[in-house]
Amino acid sequence: MTANSNPDWRDELPHLQLQAEQQVALAVDMAGLRQLEVDLLGAKGSVTTAVRGVGAVAGPDRKEYGQLAGKLKTAVEQAVAERRGQLERAEVQAELADATFDETLPADAVLATQPGPPRTGHVHPLSQVQGEVEAVFTSMGFHVLDYPEVESEFNNFEALNIPSWHPAREMQDTFWLDDGHLLRTHTSSGQVRAMHQFQAPFRAVFPGKVFRYEATDASHEHTFHQLEGLLIDRHVSVGHLLDSMRTLLSAIFGREVTVRLRPGYFPFVEPGFELDVQCQLCGATGCAACKHSGWLELLPCGLVHPQVLRAGGLDPAEWQGWAFGLGLSRLVMMRFGVPDVRLVLGGDSRFLSQF
Ligand code: PHE
Repeated sequence: MTANSNPDWRDELPHLQLQAEQQVALAVDMAGLRQLEVDLLGAKGSVTTAVRGVGAVAGPDRKEYGQLAGKLKTAVEQAVAERRGQLERAEVQAELADATFDETLPADAVLATQPGPPRTGHVHPLSQVQGEVEAVFTSMGFHVLDYPEVESEFNNFEALNIPSWHPAREMQDTFWLDDGHLLRTHTSSGQVRAMHQFQAPFRAVFPGKVFRYEATDASHEHTFHQLEGLLIDRHVSVGHLLDSMRTLLSAIFGREVTVRLRPGYFPFVEPGFELDVQCQLCGATGCAACKHSGWLELLPCGLVHPQVLRAGGLDPAEWQGWAFGLGLSRLVMMRFGVPDVRLVLGGDSRFLSQF
């Protein structure tokens, strides 16, 4: 020992240790313990500062200081860990002491307190039908694509041969966004996107949500689902279109369904058709879903208009195509006998639990 050494730290370090251990043992909750840990062991904590103090001790005392400081730090760290364990166990005990929670109850007994069989999740009917339709098309070499719900006026209207003055704009009342974009009113908004993406030839389907600013009733919803189909190739004819639609419908329904074809007007196809399916809900005798006509409009379709091909960067002299817009929500209604389209996205679990 040198004569000039300051002996105070020989008392101070063990004293600090004792004091810290007591404080930690007395922490009443996790928040208090966390604060204490910062005050003691944090970057500016008292224990940390004491440990750093070794730098100021000169000569042969340095080793002794280092040992005392190391002991201090280890002891305080251990005390904190021990108290943390105690407090955690106390928290669990408190939870178990809650009279409304019985951890010994077997799962069967819990389920028995609820009416009916155990409730499990399942795929939404819309997703079921969408998956089936996608499977039909992927087996025929189609891409399945996902295009934006927020669209440009160009992709949703202009590129589809529907300029702003065109009365067809009123066929589809539109939700406009403040920045001039819109919520797509149909999945046809993906047509020129796909043409630019793939050039020609290609075949693709693009399912998704579409939005219309209109009053709702049993067969109209402001938000519903469509699946667009688009095929671009050489020498495409109405014959190709009809045969593809027949293949699609028999795959979907798993049997022959009665359909009828009417001329239909859409500015982006020429010629255009409405393919109707006999209402499966009422057996074509007339109900609210088919507006008492016995028929449901299911599949508007046609040959892609030359203007649309041009907007997609394709030369109509070389390329043609067909397109359809399948009403997925309608298809769900027919498949499962749902009388009101508003039920499909309504989110009522009493409805959904039936599928
Ligand atoms: N986009 C049209 C609609 O929603 C449907 C359609 C798609 C018609 C493709 C023809 C070809 O009403």
